[in-house]
Amino acid sequence: MARSGGSPYASILLVLCIFQVTVVRGQSTHPIEANALNAIKARLIDPINKLKKWNRGDPCTSNWTGVICHKIPSDTYLHVTELELFKMNLSGTLAPEIGLLSQLRNLNFMWNNLTGNIPKEIGNITTLNLIALNGNQLSGSLPDEIGYLKNLNRLQIDQNQISGPIPKSFANLTSIKHLHMNNNSLSGEIPSELSRLPELLHLLVDANNLSGPLPPKLAETRSLKIIQADNNNFSGSSIPATYNNIPTLLKLSLRNCSLQGVIPDLTGIPELGYLDLSWNQLTGSIPVDRLASNITTIDLSHNFLNGTIPANFSGLPNLQFLNFESNSLDTIPAAFEPPKAVIVLLSGNPVCDNPARAAGLCQPKSVSEAPSGQGPQVSIDCASCPTDKNYEYNPLSPIPCICAAPLGVGFRLKSPGISDFRSYKKAFEMDSTSVLNLSIYQLYIERYTWEAGPRLNMHLKLFPNNTNLFTMSEVVRLRQLLAGWEITLLDIFGPYELLNFTLGSYEDEFPDAGSSGLKKGTLAGILVGTIISAIAVSVVATFFMMRRRSKRQIVSRPSILSRLSVKVDGVRSFTLEEMATATNNFDDSAEIGVGGYGKVYKGNLADGATVAIKRAHEDSLQGSNEFVTEIELLSRLHHRNLVSLIGYCDEEVEQMLVYEFMPNGTLRDHLSETCKRPLNFSQRLNVALGAAKGILYLHTEADPPIFHRDVKTTNILLDSKFAAKVADFGLSKLAPIPDVEGTLPEHISTVVKGTPGYLDPEYFLTNKLTEKSDVYSLGVVLLELLTGMKPIQFGKNIVREVKAAYQSGDISRIIDSRMSWCPPELATRFLSLALKCCQGDTDARPYMADIARELDDIRRALPEGEDLLSVTSMETGSLATLTQSTSNSFITTTGEHFDSSHASGSSLMDSGVPSRMAVTPR
Ligand SMILES: *[C@@H]1O[C@H](CO)[C@@H](O)[C@H](O)[C@H]1NC(C)=O
Ligand SMILES: *[C@@H]1O[C@H](CO)[C@@H](O)[C@H](O)[C@H]1NC(C)=O
Ligand SMILES: *[C@@H]1O[C@H](CO)[C@@H](O)[C@H](O)[C@H]1NC(C)=O
Ligand SMILES: *[C@@H]1O[C@H](CO)[C@@H](O)[C@H](O)[C@H]1NC(C)=O
Ligand SMILES: *[C@@H]1O[C@H](CO)[C@@H](O)[C@H](O)[C@H]1NC(C)=O
Ligand SMILES: *[C@@H]1O[C@H](CO)[C@@H](O)[C@H](O)[C@H]1NC(C)=O
Ligand SMILES: *[C@@H]1O[C@H](CO)[C@@H](O)[C@H](O)[C@H]1NC(C)=O
Repeated sequence: MARSGGSPYASILLVLCIFQVTVVRGQSTHPIEANALNAIKARLIDPINKLKKWNRGDPCTSNWTGVICHKIPSDTYLHVTELELFKMNLSGTLAPEIGLLSQLRNLNFMWNNLTGNIPKEIGNITTLNLIALNGNQLSGSLPDEIGYLKNLNRLQIDQNQISGPIPKSFANLTSIKHLHMNNNSLSGEIPSELSRLPELLHLLVDANNLSGPLPPKLAETRSLKIIQADNNNFSGSSIPATYNNIPTLLKLSLRNCSLQGVIPDLTGIPELGYLDLSWNQLTGSIPVDRLASNITTIDLSHNFLNGTIPANFSGLPNLQFLNFESNSLDTIPAAFEPPKAVIVLLSGNPVCDNPARAAGLCQPKSVSEAPSGQGPQVSIDCASCPTDKNYEYNPLSPIPCICAAPLGVGFRLKSPGISDFRSYKKAFEMDSTSVLNLSIYQLYIERYTWEAGPRLNMHLKLFPNNTNLFTMSEVVRLRQLLAGWEITLLDIFGPYELLNFTLGSYEDEFPDAGSSGLKKGTLAGILVGTIISAIAVSVVATFFMMRRRSKRQIVSRPSILSRLSVKVDGVRSFTLEEMATATNNFDDSAEIGVGGYGKVYKGNLADGATVAIKRAHEDSLQGSNEFVTEIELLSRLHHRNLVSLIGYCDEEVEQMLVYEFMPNGTLRDHLSETCKRPLNFSQRLNVALGAAKGILYLHTEADPPIFHRDVKTTNILLDSKFAAKVADFGLSKLAPIPDVEGTLPEHISTVVKGTPGYLDPEYFLTNKLTEKSDVYSLGVVLLELLTGMKPIQFGKNIVREVKAAYQSGDISRIIDSRMSWCPPELATRFLSLALKCCQGDTDARPYMADIARELDDIRRALPEGEDLLSVTSMETGSLATLTQSTSNSFITTTGEHFDSSHASGSSLMDSGVPSRMAVTPR
């Protein structure tokens, strides 16, 4: 559990370990079980070495991944009670020695690639409660011995290649509630002996080769809620009339089963919610009696049903979907008037020969599948979150702009009682958050998609409750609830399954994602006695919390001044005290933003100058070297389209950078929907040109050249005259330097950084950083400028969207409508330039110099008045900048005078078009 082990904690760790060892001394895994685990390991293929810990020490006391143990009263050994090897890329076979784990309760190997058959020895483990072998490639037949497992609650063997019959011995599974055996090759009849299962809730046997008659006796079960047996071949048998006597039944799904005969009376099922009898050879008429008012779905399509549609079907209050396609129905009663929201399909019936009677119900629907969906498209106007932490905004959070690290949950409803999720989404959110004990806004349904079955695949994000991070115990708790089927959803949603559980930002804390380390059971198993384990859990949790909090106190570095090898010209060194005074002690009211680096404050220096102070977040504290690099780099860069560095503070555990203050904030602010005074077209054009020039300066005039690496609208700031200045060189890396022969390497390999949506796809794929990566990002900025859209908004990518509109020839629908005036011809040129920048092929993208030139040309093409206006605002803007920086940054740390004329880039300042562009490295 102490696997994160930073050295400052060695002592805590040690205490914990000694404590642990003391408690468990003399305890070890029962030797038979230890041998059994070794035998199991020997049969598994473990390509990514998930079981590497299974090589050492005692299974129960040496943290073997996925092995959870408990003590039992009858002997002094520890016993393996759970094997949690969910989604670990394992293949190989299940060793028969598994039968020797005589105290095993949970056997979870789902979503691996196991082959071979299920060993009959499994039947010896009478303690088994859960068998989850779904999602493997198991074959062979089901051993009769499974029937001995009278404590078994859940048997999931779905999505394998298991063949042969369902053993009659299953009749002895007297505790079984969930029998999930769909998507295999099972054959033979559904044994009528299953009727003896008193607890059976869900019988899922769809997509097999089952045959023979459906057993009428199944009606004798006392609690059956779901029968899903679609896609089998019960050749010629009919639907047993006895099924009308299953009072608990909620769902009957027998699609494509080769069933014949008539549809029996089903009025005896008071809460039937879902009826699918489509694609059979059913005859006769549709039972006219009222179906249960709970019903959402009636699919009787592709049969030989004749007569009329029951008029009262249209009055069913919960109805979503009514499908009668391809039958022999010839009348529609006048009283049949389904509400608009209900999908009714009727094509392929004789009644459609009389279009007047059928009143619009006969259009064949190419696909009658229910819509998939996405989470709400809330637009959030926040500074972007740190990219290195997988932070993001919770679109539903009541408190906006909290960067939070969500947990990702792949979730599937295996047999839902609905066919359109939209009207049940709210109910699902309320139900699932309530059973998970979360606030409703902590659950974000990122998307949901219907899959064959039909089953509903969902991707959920669980966000911490108005904080950045979940505590470790919360993560453990949520995973345990989901992976251990410890929650039950409303009946309407049917059984669920966990497809994956992504730790995202929490991965560091849990290096064995998916392993025993995640389960409180592990601790309970290792430490004998629940009280002790409770202490341990809290110690561990505290330990993690302390680690988080105390980083700031513990990191100690020599002051920057002692490390500066080169003197830093033109920047001031500030004391912590000066910074605190300037910001009223870092008061919240002085905060003007949050960036990847940390918080940004507005500060008033003693000399009256207003500055922006970036205070490094504890997680982004750099080593002194990087900090020096950044300061050295910034101090040498002077261009009117770059935000200039005034100074820095490096004291105790604080690192701050002091910049000129940009009164008009970030470009993103001005593009947001809530912005009250949206920029006009010429302003946007000028911003684009300014940004391009700033970056061009970095590429061509800086010595050595610099790639920005994180160009985005939140890194482009606007001064009092709305002139653009590029900010944040935190991610900058120097461009390649010619080697001795004078040839330039084509790229720098480096870890992928930057912001999603702006990342050059080539860079992302290859880690090859070129100046064209900045070109791509700037292209995205240009697209945002013209459309107001965000680069990625809930799955929609701006490049793709704009490209589609551009190709369709209708760009007017994507142009930001808040621009009062936008000349179509120039907008098209602008857009075409932006799209050129965003091409996948790096070589096809223009150089920054080309961009600046084209933007300048577009600006010159503006009508007289517009052009003048913008040029004036630009000139005064740059003047203001120069004045400001003059007043701020002239005494260096060494007391030398600094002459701004050494700032390069003046060639770019004079003419609109850069003069040096041949030097760009290729
Ligand atoms: C569990 O793992 C941690 C870290 O990997 C280790 O320090 C600890 O000693 C282990 N516990 C036991 C009982 O081996
Ligand atoms: C299982 O193996 C197949 C190829 O045999 C592979 O495509 C698939 O990704 C594997 N699945 C898992 C969960 O490892
Ligand atoms: C299963 O248990 C029985 C006795 O309970 C024993 O005779 C048999 O050998 C066991 N089989 C296996 C494979 O462990
Ligand atoms: C169920 O178990 C009993 C013994 O407990 C056995 O006699 C019977 O044959 C079993 N039933 C089936 C169908 O295997
Ligand atoms: C419906 O079909 C059944 C046999 O398939 C037939 O006996 C019955 O007369 C038909 N009813 C009508 C109204 O055509
Ligand atoms: C069926 O509807 C009734 C009331 O209309 C409701 O109380 C009951 O919970 C519903 N049953 C299900 C399974 O949705
Ligand atoms: C989430 O936090 C709010 C206060 O910020 C609190 O009222 C609510 O109960 C919390 N929800 C849960 C599930 O703890």
